Amino acid sequence: MTFKKNARTKREADLLETCGRVLPVGVRNASYNPDYMMVIEKAQGARITDCSGNEYIDYLLGSGPMFLGHAHPAVVQAAEEQLRNGTSYLMTSEAAIELADEIVKAVPCADNVSYHNSGSEATFFAMRVARAFRKRDKVLKFEGAYHGMGDSALMSTQWTQKPLEFPSAHADSSGIPASVRDETLIAPFNNLEVTTSIIEQHAEELACVIVEPLNRTIPPAPGFLEGLREVTAQLGIPLIFDEVVTGFRLAFGGAQEYYGVTPDLCALGKTISGGHPFGVLCGKEEIMEMASPMRILKGDWARLSGTFSGNPVSCRAALAIINELKKPGFYETVEKRGLKLRTGLENALSNAGLSAQVLGERTVFQPWFTDASIVDHRSSLAASAGTNLKFIDKLLDRGIVKGHEKFFVSAAHTDEDIDYTIEAIESATMEMAEG
Ligand SMILES: Cc1ncc(COP(=O)(O)O)c(C=O)c1O
Repeated sequence: MTFKKNARTKREADLLETCGRVLPVGVRNASYNPDYMMVIEKAQGARITDCSGNEYIDYLLGSGPMFLGHAHPAVVQAAEEQLRNGTSYLMTSEAAIELADEIVKAVPCADNVSYHNSGSEATFFAMRVARAFRKRDKVLKFEGAYHGMGDSALMSTQWTQKPLEFPSAHADSSGIPASVRDETLIAPFNNLEVTTSIIEQHAEELACVIVEPLNRTIPPAPGFLEGLREVTAQLGIPLIFDEVVTGFRLAFGGAQEYYGVTPDLCALGKTISGGHPFGVLCGKEEIMEMASPMRILKGDWARLSGTFSGNPVSCRAALAIINELKKPGFYETVEKRGLKLRTGLENALSNAGLSAQVLGERTVFQPWFTDASIVDHRSSLAASAGTNLKFIDKLLDRGIVKGHEKFFVSAAHTDEDIDYTIEAIESATMEMAEG
């Protein structure tokens, strides 16, 4: 493959001008640099095409959901068939029940399932059901951990904010009530001693602990998740795994299968959605039971529903995805490609002499532009954000789309795609070193 970028067409330029005027927020672009902004026309397999006819190899994959690649035939067929039979019933469908059954079989912590429309909703409802169960309000989350856009989730994630003393939280958005911030405790990921001491000190106020087991791309230190499980279990505090990224991706049973630690509740999204708006909350029956409509009359009920929750199109698509994931050799093949790309990336960074390291697991990893050891949010602040942005633009010059953080590898990336990408990374990193 060679990549020669077409000049921006008038149509795309006009669309970008209109976008800037009427849609300045709420959708993202691959780069902050205006020269690299694009409007997407279509995506197929591992390729994404802009309105000027430029076709890129896509490692952003919609921020991860397209683990099978874009417009996978089995997923398209399942969704298309369902479209003809209606898209939204509010009432339970056969697809919703079949899917819940599959999730319960796949995910170790899942006795029961509820459906939502995004990862943000899944973590939002996870925290609500935990609060209802524990009859407490406070949430402990980890600094730098992103759990979506809910008020309780959007705390102390931002690298642009000055870190506070643990366990104080800062809101990452204007418009979040100060009372939500005051109900949030922040702990350092991978520091079991400090985390345990915060949990023990606030045990009587805590509704739950929420953690992304692979924190962005920072792996848990040996014993960290196990220790977190132990202390929360001892104190009867529900432990939530945010598996919106890792669910069905790190392994069929997600990070809880991969790391061998079972939480009480789990939020899923991305991979299981196949690109449809979808989120799943699942967990232990004794906690999920708080959402049973049978509790309405008791006046002690966690409400978890929504108009589109469990819509049959998303459920049918998810069933088609699970069917593909179950095929023999699926994970081995995609993980082999992930490893090849990661190794190529590591070698290229090192050969170019750049201060950098690659963190992550299997098919999700990213370069961090620093030599300093990264074990949590604070240590990750040593990485150069500017170098990262340069790297992204240099890859765009070579026909590769990657997000600001991760490389997501899909089953649609071929060995040739990976070879081309490694060559592109080698030339991009050499150019960066020279520059
Ligand atoms: C770990 C994690 N949790 C939750 C979310 C929120 O998911 P969504 O964007 O579907 O609302 C994301 C999104 O990137 C995520 O990475």
